[in-house]
Amino acid sequence: MPFSVRIEAAMTRAITRCQTRAAPRRLASALEYSVSPGGARIRPTILLGVASACGEDRTEISDAAATALELIHCGSLVHDDLPCFDDADTRRGKPSVHRAYSQPLAVLAGDSLIILAFEELARVAEIDPMRSAKLVLALAQHTGMPGGICAGQGWESETEINLEAYHSAKTAALFVAATKMGAIAGGQEPGPWAELGERIGAAFQIADDLRDTLYDAETLGKPVGQDDLNGRPNAVAAFGVQGAVSKLKDSLSGAIASIPSCPGEAMLAQMVQRYAEKLAPIAPPKRAAVQRASIPRIVPGE
Ligand code: IPE
Ligand code: IPE
Ligand code: MG
Ligand code: MG
Repeated sequence: MPFSVRIEAAMTRAITRCQTRAAPRRLASALEYSVSPGGARIRPTILLGVASACGEDRTEISDAAATALELIHCGSLVHDDLPCFDDADTRRGKPSVHRAYSQPLAVLAGDSLIILAFEELARVAEIDPMRSAKLVLALAQHTGMPGGICAGQGWESETEINLEAYHSAKTAALFVAATKMGAIAGGQEPGPWAELGERIGAAFQIADDLRDTLYDAETLGKPVGQDDLNGRPNAVAAFGVQGAVSKLKDSLSGAIASIPSCPGEAMLAQMVQRYAEKLAPIAPPKRAAVQRASIPRIVPGE
């Protein structure tokens, strides 16, 4: 079965479990609205690619892991769009959750999605308690503090920002979760898979920064020029467009070589190659860059 079909079916199952007659109707509806229609579903796709390359023997476990990761991602976007963060009116081409449902429901929808993610992983303990526990630990480490997406968002409240640490926690963390959780779901050790996630995640965030500067809102389905508007440090402000493109290419160039030896290595290498071609090069500018708000001082990476 194609990964995309597995992901949509598993996401629907998880959300449907929240839609009982006893549940508050508007919050249940906000949950569904937050995850569908989905975006690129890139993180669960990478997770299933790695699980399959590792010789997955229990698809229920990989499906639960992929769903948990995408639920965290969707929940983080609901919170990210709130007025206290990026104050974004649109997401995936439609009104953001707080615009469509209200701020209290967006806070609760984000919270519920995050909790549902861990419920998904706890449920597979019946099949394999050790894999379930390892998946919970990996997802928690890449979601919370000190190195997960909470830390990434936390950097935005500092006066001095280390761009590498910011990007690594804000975005690469969930890509590292994708490769490590894919390995765990497939019955392998996660450690050797971290570098692949770090490289794809770093490239992904640089591509996102380039699009934020160069693309229009209609193409992206979300507001553009946000990094400059909100004074967020970003790869284009730090290195310029050409510098950012070459950093993106550097990150991707080592990605395939970092794939650990596994039964489906060739298949996974092809998948990463196809994805790398999609990310770079970025299409030529469609609009001029907007005026910058003051950006916190960027300190060099360690
Ligand atoms: C957007 O992620 C948030 C970032 C970390 C830049 P995606 O571009 O993967 O969002 P969707 O899920 O496809 O909408
Ligand atoms: C969102 O980052 C990252 C998280 C929610 C952790 P951005 O704010 O840069 O992403 P977009 O542009 O809103 O998708
Ligand atoms: Mg943000
Ligand atoms: Mg945002």
